[in-house]
Amino acid sequence: MNVRHFLDITDLSAREINNVMNLSIAEISRLGQPLAGKGVAMIFEKPSNRTRQSMEMAVVQLGGHPIFTRGEEVGFDERETVEDVTRIMAGYHHVIAARVFNHSVLQRMSAVSSVPIVNLLSDHSHPLQALADVLTMRQELGHLAQKSVAWVGDYNNVARSLVEACALEGMHIRLGCPKGYGASDDELNRIASLGAASVAQHSSAKIAVTGAHAVHTDAFVSMGQEAQTAKRMIDFADFRVDASVMECAEKSAIFMHCLPAHRGVEVTAEVIDGSQSRVVTQAHNRMHAARGLLAYLMGVTL
Ligand code: CP
Ligand code: NVA
Repeated sequence: MNVRHFLDITDLSAREINNVMNLSIAEISRLGQPLAGKGVAMIFEKPSNRTRQSMEMAVVQLGGHPIFTRGEEVGFDERETVEDVTRIMAGYHHVIAARVFNHSVLQRMSAVSSVPIVNLLSDHSHPLQALADVLTMRQELGHLAQKSVAWVGDYNNVARSLVEACALEGMHIRLGCPKGYGASDDELNRIASLGAASVAQHSSAKIAVTGAHAVHTDAFVSMGQEAQTAKRMIDFADFRVDASVMECAEKSAIFMHCLPAHRGVEVTAEVIDGSQSRVVTQAHNRMHAARGLLAYLMGVTL
């Protein structure tokens, strides 16, 4: 089926991301009401604050009606198959969005869906978050090509999508990850091939952030990894973003975190609540980016 899905940032080209960014910052009245009388299904297998709230409001702003469903209500592959859920919902809705444990569920949905499937976070990626992150960095740093972005901590779902988006923006990418939690050599080469100005990985947070214009981190324990908490607390002990880490970045560097945050674990309160932090703007931009993405998928052009 010739339907555009958004499972990963790389489902869009650099030019298309630029279009989505322009739609995200446009006055809502300029977008029309492309979802008027239309539904957007939102299935969540995991908890959410930002993703649910921002997507629901973005749908409303475009004239549509969001329907939130908990994962256990549809019971993927327990109550009925992923394919049956998708085919049925595609008859009611113009977009189906889902937050899932296994990325393969989204791939199976997109294989049978006659409407766009949107990833609301999987174990593999979090592309809607990355759109908001790029929007925030563009607003804060201006043109992103040749600017330097650092990721400190786990090379996880959020990191993968962020780094893909930053590569498409032509940024220098610097990863600071504990051994065993970083990107593989193949992954580093893949990111470089997307258009990054450069890609480097270090096993020191301070080296990774040196010269960075934006410093990102995320929880050390993602949803679904709770059993690994004790080990991860030890393995990530040297990767907390504190004032001494931020001092290695550019003086004007901003701090970003997708949230929810764990103060005193991956970031100190001094940093996340300090003057360099942009986490609230970043979270608010989730709604604008979601609106831009939905408008793009509905064929809105400016
Ligand atoms: N950043 C993010 O996706 O937050 P939620 O888990 O609250 O949606
Ligand atoms: N990496 C985190 C992001 C939460 C928004 C997780 O997957 O739990």
